Amino acid sequence: MARPLIVAIDGPAGAGKSSVSKILALRLNFTLVDTGAIYRCIALKASRSGVAFDDLPALQSLLDAVKVTFRMEEDKNHVFLDGEDVSAAIRTSEISLAASKVSSQPVVRNALLELQRRLALAAEHGAILEGRDIGTVVFPDADIKVFLFADPAVRAERRYEELFQKGHEKPVDQVLADQNKRDKEDTEREVAPLKPAPDAVRIDSTHLHLSEVVHQIEGLVSAKRG
Ligand code: DC
Repeated sequence: MARPLIVAIDGPAGAGKSSVSKILALRLNFTLVDTGAIYRCIALKASRSGVAFDDLPALQSLLDAVKVTFRMEEDKNHVFLDGEDVSAAIRTSEISLAASKVSSQPVVRNALLELQRRLALAAEHGAILEGRDIGTVVFPDADIKVFLFADPAVRAERRYEELFQKGHEKPVDQVLADQNKRDKEDTEREVAPLKPAPDAVRIDSTHLHLSEVVHQIEGLVSAKRG
C-alpha cells in the first residue's frame, strides 16, 4: 500500500506552525501530528510524578508506560495523556520550558521517534507533522519539507496574544526572554537540534498572514500530487 503523503513543518516557537498545520490538516483532510505536544506530555508526566528531567532511568520507565493519543474534535486537536485530555494543561509556560528540557535527552527522543512515525503512517490521506526535527530526523524523506520562521520579536508578540486570549497575562519582555531560552536550547542541543533540512522550503512568516502561508504550502502539496 502506498505511503500517505508526508508534510514536515519545522521551525521555532511562535512562527505559526500550529495554526498553519491545523488549518492545512482541516483543508486537506490530513492527519495532524503535533510532535511538540508529545514532548509536552512527557514533560507534564515527569513533573507530575516528580521525575527530574535528567534522571534517565526514571524517564525511561515513564516512557515505557506512557500513552499519548490525539483526537480532532470540533476543529480542535485534543491531546490525551494516558486517557486524560491534557490539551490545556500542556500549554503553560512552565511546561513549555520543561518540554524543551526533556526533549534534549536522547533517551526521550529515541523513545518518541517510533510513535511519531506510527501516528503519521496510519493516516488515511496524508499527514502533517509539525515540530523541530521532522524534516531532518523523523521523516528525512518527507514529500514536502517546510521550515517556517519569523522575527523573534514578532513571534513573542504572537505568543503574548495567545496567552492573553487564554486568560494568562505575562509581560512581553518575559515572553521574549523565555522564547530566547527555548530557541537556544532547541538549536544548541546535541541530538536532533532545530535546523532547516537542506532541502526544506524556507518561509518567513514575519509579514505574512496565516492564509498566505497556508496557500504557499497548499501550492507545494498540489505540485507534489501533480
Ligand atoms: O512546538 P512546541 O512549542 O509545542 O514544542 C515544545 C518543545 O518540544 C520545544 O521547546 C522543543 C521540543 N520539540 C522537539 O524537540 N522536537 C519536536 N519535533 C517538537 C518539539
